[in-house]
Amino acid sequence: MENPRVFITREQIRQKVAELAERIRQDYVNKNPLLIGILKGSFVFLSDLIRLLDMPLEVDFIRMSSYGSGTESSGDVEVIQYLRTAIEGREILVVEDIVDTGLSLSSFLDRLRQEKPASIRLCALLDKPSRRKTPVHIDYPGFTIPDRFVVGYGLDFDEKYRYLPDICYLEEE
Ligand code: IMP
Repeated sequence: MENPRVFITREQIRQKVAELAERIRQDYVNKNPLLIGILKGSFVFLSDLIRLLDMPLEVDFIRMSSYGSGTESSGDVEVIQYLRTAIEGREILVVEDIVDTGLSLSSFLDRLRQEKPASIRLCALLDKPSRRKTPVHIDYPGFTIPDRFVVGYGLDFDEKYRYLPDICYLEEE
């Protein structure tokens, strides 16, 4: 049985999201950006972020499935729900919970670029650089973390633990 242990507290998360929102706000004055949340993991982060941004913006979502087992992304990525919004000429901010191997994100970013948005930037709450298999530039990074599987604040293990208010790692009991 896994046992979640607090790794990043809700207060640390709150402060980090506020810092990220402040930077993003300054960069997008009068730009009405389209924020693209990557489901499912980013929904908690995105909903906190947009309320702190408190500026004109739009939101859309995509959902990807990665055929991997358990805690590994295989890189064999399929988009199972795509945008409803046209993105040509738009300022795009992709909002991701965690960048791990980078495989799912980089294929999605390539696809977005083909639709000729005015700009694409990436905000990721968590970054595990030691696991990267393809380079991904994070314009607005939150926490850099070691190679440990984390849950909570939207992140799951096998669909469990998304509701935890802190970011936790799993420990065997
Ligand atoms: P990547 O393609 O390997 O970068 O995988 C990114 C996706 O894998 C994230 O959006 C998460 O859904 C999932 N993921 C990667 N690491 C973790 C983790 O430590 N906890 C929960 N989900 C993770």
